[in-house]
Amino acid sequence: MSNYSFGSQEETMVMKKVKMGFLFFLICMCLLVPVHPTQRLSPTITDLAFKNVDFAMNLYRKISSYHDKNIFFSPLSISTTFATLSMASDGETQKEILKGLNLHQLEQVEEPELIPRLFQQLCGNITRNGSLRLDQGTALFVSQQFEIEKIFDEQIKRFFNADVRTVDFMDPKSSSGIINEYIEQKTGSKVAEIITNLDSQTQLLLINIIFFQGEWQMPFNPNHTENRPFHIDNYNIVQVPMMFKDDEFYTTEDVPLGAKVLKLPYKQGIAMLILLPNKGMDYSLVDDKITAKRFLSWVKQLREMQLEVHMPKFKLEQSYLLHDILPDLGVSGVFHDSANLTKLSRNRGLKVSEVLHKAVIEVDEKGTTAAAATTAGIIAYSLPRPFIINRPFFFFIYHEETNTLLFMGRVIDPTKI
Ligand SMILES: *[C@@H]1O[C@H](CO)[C@@H](O)[C@H](O)[C@H]1NC(C)=O
Ligand SMILES: *[C@@H]1O[C@H](CO)[C@@H](O)[C@H](O)[C@H]1NC(C)=O
Ligand SMILES: *[C@@H]1O[C@H](CO)[C@@H](O)[C@H](O)[C@H]1NC(C)=O
Ligand SMILES: *[C@@H]1O[C@H](CO)[C@@H](O)[C@H](O)[C@H]1NC(C)=O
Repeated sequence: MSNYSFGSQEETMVMKKVKMGFLFFLICMCLLVPVHPTQRLSPTITDLAFKNVDFAMNLYRKISSYHDKNIFFSPLSISTTFATLSMASDGETQKEILKGLNLHQLEQVEEPELIPRLFQQLCGNITRNGSLRLDQGTALFVSQQFEIEKIFDEQIKRFFNADVRTVDFMDPKSSSGIINEYIEQKTGSKVAEIITNLDSQTQLLLINIIFFQGEWQMPFNPNHTENRPFHIDNYNIVQVPMMFKDDEFYTTEDVPLGAKVLKLPYKQGIAMLILLPNKGMDYSLVDDKITAKRFLSWVKQLREMQLEVHMPKFKLEQSYLLHDILPDLGVSGVFHDSANLTKLSRNRGLKVSEVLHKAVIEVDEKGTTAAAATTAGIIAYSLPRPFIINRPFFFFIYHEETNTLLFMGRVIDPTKI
């Protein structure tokens, strides 16, 4: 009985706090609004970046639930692709896309172009220094029986640097030729022949491809690369070219998760974060526990330390049929007859047939030697600790200033592309 009354007393305390918080909030609003009439609590690119990380983790968990192979995709690129689709759509279809992308909370009724503008600003911020090259392309190929709205064509060019083209899907050979040529041209021939067979019933095909090869701030010396074992699991071992570097790195440990974290900085304000589950730990247990909050907490907790890093060279080339995956995240209407794509074309009955995403990455020793003078300040008595990436690991490539997740991947077997 006494316990109960104690509890209720505490409850009233909490209630008081809540009320005070509410009052405080109201006062702030009153002060803010008249003083800065133009300054609204409008979402920023930081909000967009955070929502994107959240979306990335949801998508990752879906993809990883289908198989136990290597994974590599570009969350930013996928969100951008679906943001172009949200501009093509209206009504329920648009609502569903924004919700699936985790962007519905950023919507502002009085500013319909806010979300595309945020995407444009974010991409501008990431490539601001001009030296980061993300070879990417987004294109919508629409069956020629649909007439494309001029406003839409202009909008997606302006905000997303994307293209919309009409093709004759009834002639699969010529249309796949046109599409493959477009991709080759957009990616400097690094990605070729993405389309092999096209369904003549296709109405709308969305393609998004991205190629990344960053330059390390502290390159690995190729002379130190040697073949070493990589333990796929308890029974399978492969030999991989293992790079080596002894230097100061930013690192941390996630003790509850049972994993270590290492940051490998690229130039251009980008970094790769490696998440290495502890020896003997099943990586699939880690799979379910990766969240946006966790990712940001690793970034915050990084500390500089002398390390001996052993890291496999690898190349990944992964394609995903997003029309098969996105319905699991609640985006399905746009693929059905009920799709509302009236902003793309006023002709009735248009729906999205396929959405293809392809991402390619090469991780090797490369980089320039210019920025390598980091060995100063090593404390003589701090013996370097080994960080040996010789078992399945996760990696995240992100823009440091905005914490935008450009790529996310999982390497189970580095010898498989
Ligand atoms: C699409 O959505 C808009 C806005 O809700 C609505 O006015 C329009 O009738 C819808 N069109 C179709 C074909 O569903
Ligand atoms: C993005 O770029 C703008 C303009 O260069 C800069 O002011 C801003 O700090 C950058 N970062 C964010 C998170 O807005
Ligand atoms: C690698 O070894 C070769 C031959 O010994 C040497 O000429 C070269 O400078 C070395 N490269 C680096 C980056 O140390
Ligand atoms: C990019 O530009 C910003 C602002 O001009 C600068 O602070 C930053 O160091 C640059 N990053 C790189 C990697 O050059």
